[in-house]
Amino acid sequence: MAKSIIIALVSLAICVSSSLSFAHAKAAAGPSKFTVVGHVYCDTCRVEFETKISQPISGAVVKLECRNRTDGAVTYKSPEVTTSAKGEYSIVVEGDYEDSDCDVMLVKSSKPDCSDPTEGWRKARVVLTSLDGISGDVRFANNLGFKRKEAIPECKQVLTEMGYFELQEELGHEAAA
Ligand SMILES: *[C@@H]1O[C@H](CO)[C@@H](O)[C@H](O)[C@H]1NC(C)=O
Repeated sequence: MAKSIIIALVSLAICVSSSLSFAHAKAAAGPSKFTVVGHVYCDTCRVEFETKISQPISGAVVKLECRNRTDGAVTYKSPEVTTSAKGEYSIVVEGDYEDSDCDVMLVKSSKPDCSDPTEGWRKARVVLTSLDGISGDVRFANNLGFKRKEAIPECKQVLTEMGYFELQEELGHEAAA
């Protein structure tokens, strides 16, 4: 009985010390550096999700900000970054932001007819720490989007194919019930 307790304690100790030295190895590897990548789209159907007729916006401006999770103070602020011809951006962040909430957010669109920031697509949370078990220094942010002033005519067809109207009707019934 006593023997098995000792064995359990010894293996627990080994476990704890190896995870500690793992954390130390990470810290000793030098400052972290992350590359945050993502896309900016024009929500041509004004539905706040991507469809096959959403269009990438080139020349849109985004930025990344981290805030202390406890007191909300800004802990990191990236320069403003412009999207490529394919609507892609990439932001390099130095440091580890384990105790912060980091978001990529829309600053402005380059398309006057598609410049309404959407509520759901306005910002995207990214995790910028290597201490959470996510490996690799490239972090993919969810898509961001601006809404077009008016939905384009093709939307009806595309949204019907996606089952959007049926879903809406179902939700409507549920809400009414
Ligand atoms: C976050 O805010 C708390 C409370 O003000 C503070 O104790 C902590 O050091 C801050 N952390 C960072 C990383 O700035």
